[in-house]
Formats: sequence, C-alpha cells, structure tokens
Amino acid sequence: MNSPTFVTMIDHATIERILDAAEISDVVSDFVTLRKRGVNQLGLCPFHNEKTPSFTVSSAKGIFKCFGCGKGGNSVNFIMEHENLTYPEALKWLARKYNIEIVEKEETEEQKQQKDDRESMMIVSSYAQKYFTRYLWEENEGRTIGLSYFRERNFRDDILKKFDVGFAPDGKTPFTEAAQKEGYKIDFLEKTGLTIKRDDWMRDRFAGRIMFPIHNIAGRVIAFGGRILKDDKKIAKYLNSPESDIYHKSRVLYGIFQAKREISKTEKCYLVEGYTDVLSMHQAGIENVVASSGTALTPDQIRLVKRFTPNITIIYDGDEAGIKASLRGIDLILEEGMNVKVLLLPQGEDPDSFAKKMGATKYLKYIEDNEADFIQFKTRLLLKDTENDPIKKAGLISDVIRSVSVIPDTITRSVYIKECSRLLGVNEDILYTEVRKQKTKQSEDFRKKEFREKAKKATAKPKPPEKIKPTQFLVEELEYLRFLLKHCNAPLFELEGDDENETEMISVGEFMIQELEADDLVSENPLFKKMFYEVSSILDKENIDTWKHFTQHPDSEISQLATDLLSEKYIESKRWAKAGAFMEQEEDILEVLIPKIINEYKFRKIKIMQAEIEKQINIESDKKDYDKVFDLLNTMTNLKKVEKEFTDKLGSRAIN
Ligand code: CTP
Ligand code: MN
Repeated sequence: MNSPTFVTMIDHATIERILDAAEISDVVSDFVTLRKRGVNQLGLCPFHNEKTPSFTVSSAKGIFKCFGCGKGGNSVNFIMEHENLTYPEALKWLARKYNIEIVEKEETEEQKQQKDDRESMMIVSSYAQKYFTRYLWEENEGRTIGLSYFRERNFRDDILKKFDVGFAPDGKTPFTEAAQKEGYKIDFLEKTGLTIKRDDWMRDRFAGRIMFPIHNIAGRVIAFGGRILKDDKKIAKYLNSPESDIYHKSRVLYGIFQAKREISKTEKCYLVEGYTDVLSMHQAGIENVVASSGTALTPDQIRLVKRFTPNITIIYDGDEAGIKASLRGIDLILEEGMNVKVLLLPQGEDPDSFAKKMGATKYLKYIEDNEADFIQFKTRLLLKDTENDPIKKAGLISDVIRSVSVIPDTITRSVYIKECSRLLGVNEDILYTEVRKQKTKQSEDFRKKEFREKAKKATAKPKPPEKIKPTQFLVEELEYLRFLLKHCNAPLFELEGDDENETEMISVGEFMIQELEADDLVSENPLFKKMFYEVSSILDKENIDTWKHFTQHPDSEISQLATDLLSEKYIESKRWAKAGAFMEQEEDILEVLIPKIINEYKFRKIKIMQAEIEKQINIESDKKDYDKVFDLLNTMTNLKKVEKEFTDKLGSRAIN
C-alpha cells in the first residue's frame, strides 16, 4: 500500500504543509454532506450503504470514523480509501486541492549514477557466477580439478547446483578477458573485486579456486568466496570479494536466500561458520541454516535472521575458538530480543564433517539432545572450573546474569532467572538484584557512550545547515509513546457507558489519547505530535497492530523511533528501580502504570510550560505590554491549579 520510498520523493516540510492544510471536514465535504451534531459532524458513509448516518467527522481530532462499517482515519486515509490511491498519491491529490507545490526530491545525478553502478555490479556478478558454474561442469579443467574435489568431499550434484558453486580457471586473466569480450566493463569487474587492477597490469582475483557465490536475501549474487584446493598453509584457504557498494560483509549471511523459507517454516535458524557447513547441512536435509562466514557475528546479521524467526541455535566447532565465538554471539543475539541456544560439536568436528558422519536423522537427534539454552551452556562451561570455589562461583553468577540482563523482554528475563536460580542454587531475589545492578550499569554505560559521542560530534565540523536537527525528546515523552504504541489495544478500565446499565471498556490507547487532548497537553515536538495523532486516527480500526504499523511506517523518522522504542533503547531503569517493581510484567500492571505515566508526562509538560511562560512574562513586561502579561499570568494561574491537582494526586512522591 504505502510506497516505502515516498519519503525520498516528497520532502518532509511539504508533507507537513499538506497535512496542516487538509482539514478533515473540508476534505470530506467534497464527497459527503455533513451536518453538525454536537462537537462533531455527521453524514452518510461513502464506504458502505446506509440510510441513517453513522459517518462521523471530528474536526478537533482531525479524523473521520464510521460506526457502521468501522472505517476511519485522517484526511489522507480518507482520500486513499475514497479515491483508491496510495499514500504518496493521496498526498499529491491533497496538495493539488490546496495549491501546495510539491517539491519532489529529485535524485541527484550522483545518486542516479550510484544506483546504476550498483545494478551494473550485480549484473557483472551474475555473469561471473554463471561463467564459473559453467566452467565447473563443462570445461575440462573445471571438471578434473573443481568437480572432482567436491565429489571427493561427497557433495551431491543437486546441492552443488542449489548453491550455484563453480570454478574459476587458473591463469592470469582468463575470466577477465572472457567478461570483457562479452562487453562487461573493466570498471565494474574491478569494483566487484573480480579483477584486480593496477596501473599497468591486472589479474583474476579468484584464479584456480572453487567458487561459492554469495546471494543477497533476494537471491542476487553480490559476492564470492573462493577456496584454494592446495593445502598450503601460507595461502589463505578462502579468499573473499572485497567490500563494495553491493557487498557489505557485516550485513550478509551466507545461505540466507536458500534458507529463508525453511527458517520461517521451522521457526528456527541454525547458525554455522562456513560455506561447506551450510552445504552439508542442506545435504543432510537440514535447510534452515546460515553461515556468518568466519567473521564475528554482527547485529545486522542477527536482525536479518530476526525477520524470519526469533530462534537461533549456534552450532560452532567444539574447540576453543568455537566456544569463544559462541559466547560473543550469545549476548548479541539476546540483546536483539531473540532466543539463543548453543550446540557444541565433539572436539575436532565441524557441522560439515559431523553432518556427513551422522546423516540427517542422527544429526537432528544429536541436536535435539545436546542443544542447550545459553544459561545451561554458560553454566556447564563455567561450572567445570568453579566447583567448590565460592569466589569463582560468584564470578560465574555475574557472568550469566550479565547475559540475562541484556534481554529486553521482562517475561523472558524472569523465565531465565528461574532457571538460573535452579541451576546455580541461588535465590531468585538475589539474582533479580544482580540483574538490576547490571541494567543500571548498562544504562550508565550507554549514557556515557552517548555523551562521549555527542562530545565528539560537538567538536567535529558542523553539519550543513539544511539538515533537520533530530527531534529532542523528554524521557517522559518517550515513555508515553512507548506505552501508547506497545499497549494501544490492551483493555484498561471499565467505564460507565451511555446506557446506565452498561459498562464500556476503554483501551490504553483511547485513554492515553483522551487524557492529553482533554488538557491540551499534546507535546509540541513534531514527531510526537505526528505519532500521537496517527495513533488517534487508527485507534478503532480493528486488526491494526500498532507496533507493526509504526515500525513499518513509510516515514523513516517514525519507523526508526518506533523501532528504537521497541528495542527499548530508551528505557531507563529509573522507574522500575524506584518503584521496586522491576520484575513485574508491564502487561499485568497497566492500570497502575498508565495513569502514572500520564501524570508524569503531564507534570513534566506543565513544568516546562510554566518555565516558558515565565520567560514570556519577563519579555512582555520589559516591553510593557501589560495586556499580554495579564493573559500570561492568567495562563500561569491555571497551570498552577493543574499542577496542584497533580501534586495532590501524586502525593508526596517526588517526580522531576
Ligand atoms: N574463512 C574465510 N577466510 C579464511 C578462512 C575461513 O573467509 N581464510 C571463512 C569462510 O567463510 C569459511 C569459514 O570462515 O567457510 C569457516 O572457516 P573454516 O572452518 O576454516 O572453513 P570450512 O568452512 O570448514 O571450509 P572447509 O570445510 O572447506 O575446510
Ligand atoms: Mn570448518
């Protein structure tokens, strides 16, 4: 529906202007006759057949809502629905209506060039893959050296074909020459690293190697890994394509294209180290597997898996290096809010050799019997040398707890704490305290890091002035948004309905929206405002997953913030630590939390408004504009009144 690229087409300021101009009742009136009814307007719904009007427009809220068919939204949504347009098209429609000139962000020549370049690089890579594959299967050199090597290692033909493996002819430039003859430009051969070029000479990068093409998630070839056949300790076993505009090693997982469907289906992803591990596991019938290709796992790679499943099992070699790599991977995966298990293979085995030795059934059985969640894994590993040594044991506990404390989800955390308590024989309360300490430390570290980065930026050269500066949020605003988005549709209180005998359930979203609107306290922060009113407009749409709606929002600023809020990057341990309710599950105490969050937000907001008004009063009294001063003082008195209500309500608890 929404084109994800529209943001780059219509600039932000223009979208703002359109949204500001497109007053809801004005927009709707073009199609529906509206009559005033209380604070709202009422008419016959254009989206379904009806005789008595149930189509309501609220100018105050900027939304329409049909109580007959349930359709509702803001002006843009109305036009999208009514005119059957996409989001950007609807914006353009409204822009025409209000004579707003659309400033389309043209792609610069440079951007266009870059896009063309990337496309050319992918085309060259695809050509190269086909060339190497053909060479493996059809040319004498390929068959006798490459194919026989694969056969010796017992790889089946169907697996070799599935992964498009190939062979690069030995020699100085046989591949480069063939490619050039086909019309591929040396520029792109060089940019993809297939050809190494210096001033006065060039050569094929992968000459004489068997080739593993690396596909992106859509299945296009973006790079290669080439394995040497000789056992020469001096030459690296694998040679990989260099980083390029189409290949960012840290964002790619080998095998993701061939695995993604099975990962979704099995809701699980195996993570191995190498190319041949992936091939062998497929050969054994285990297809939900990807490789980090020998590099340390990165957050981008983990997020790639997260698109398909929250469950990862690391299968690394059982040696020292494998264990170290597993340990590093664990915390990274946990931090992304995913579940991680670890399977260590017997010494000397890797997933490739082991799959071949065991065969599919036994292999799967072995995995089932031996994969351990990270707590068992760490505990087993560390308990070995801590037995009967209390100091070492304490070290082990904080080590395990450090991992637990990076888990974003409270419920998951508490499950692990239970397990931890059982395995280590330590009281749960003690573990909770330890987690709290760790989390406080982590948020301090995070703040320090932010501070350092800010300081660094401040001393760096200033940004070009046209850049919009990032919106500043108050902690209270972020919390507000987080709860609003996360628990929007959760039921909150039972209220008396229109009919005296009936009660109506009010949802978290409805309550949170209502509370700020009633007091006119919606933040001036443009991003806050945008999200706030958008929640309000989708509030009673059924089947809308608010989280998803915002994390996949076409406006990248919004989706970014929503994602950050989801990952709980902004969550301070402050509230939880203070309230002593740290391990309570948020979902279970919404009735307590939501009013608290609303009040804290309002309180902060009022304080800020007061400060602002005080400033204004000073300015206006200097100017001797006593009318204004009088108005301001009035507002101030009102604010003080509201503030008093709060302090009464909040009791003696100090909030700042
Ligand atoms: N690797 C690399 N460069 C190297 C060595 C390894 O990029 N010089 C990467 C490759 O992606 C390789 C992975 O690290 O697949 C794991 O390395 P290793 O276990 O040494 O290789 P295997 O995959 O086991 O390869 P093979 O079975 O062919 O020996
Ligand atoms: Mn290996």
